[in-house]
Amino acid sequence: MIRPATAADIDALVALEASFPAEDRFDRRTWRRLLTGHASVLVCEPPKGGLLAAAVMLYRKGAALARLYSITVAPEARGQGLARTLMAACEADAAGRHARAVRLEVRSTNSSAIRLYEAGGYRVIATLESYYPDGEAALRMEKSLDAPSNGAP
Ligand SMILES: CC(C)(COP(=O)(O)OP(=O)(O)OC[C@H]1O[C@@H](n2cnc3c(N)ncnc32)[C@H](O)[C@@H]1OP(=O)(O)O)[C@@H](O)C(=O)NCCC(=O)NCCS
Repeated sequence: MIRPATAADIDALVALEASFPAEDRFDRRTWRRLLTGHASVLVCEPPKGGLLAAAVMLYRKGAALARLYSITVAPEARGQGLARTLMAACEADAAGRHARAVRLEVRSTNSSAIRLYEAGGYRVIATLESYYPDGEAALRMEKSLDAPSNGAP
């Protein structure tokens, strides 16, 4: 089931990112801020509890552009289409907030995420050198929400 996260999910959100390098993790304070600010945190919860996946969308008031800030699927739940489903929910959330497009940045070496985004209809619009604190470049990708289909050229 995909649903908006609440403050009660913070422990599980932190646990979901436990395997990430420290600089790529959100701490509890950041999660609390995201849950109360101009953001949507959507999570995928299995019937037995815990979280299988989470995604964060950022919105600025009146902006036509939404930002996919992060998406994470638990290692044991990968390869089953969860990220694809969660991204569709994020895009529906953005469209519901009158966004016309979704933009994201992804590490240039994160090939599985880049494939996920390309398959979902995102296109590279810029390469940002030294974007991350460790010096790695980012690809900036964007998808228009005006298009009638999901990823068709
Ligand atoms: C990237 C990530 C979110 C993908 O989650 P997932 O649930 O396994 O992805 P899905 O099963 O929905 O895959 C959808 C599509 O993404 C692409 N994809 C996903 N994982 C892939 C992999 N390991 N290798 C190649 N392509 C991959 C494929 O195009 C796939 O479609 P297909 O199965 O029809 O080939 C997951 O690997 C993850 O959490 N990684 C760590 C966090 C991260 O890097 N997040 C993105 C940057 S914030």
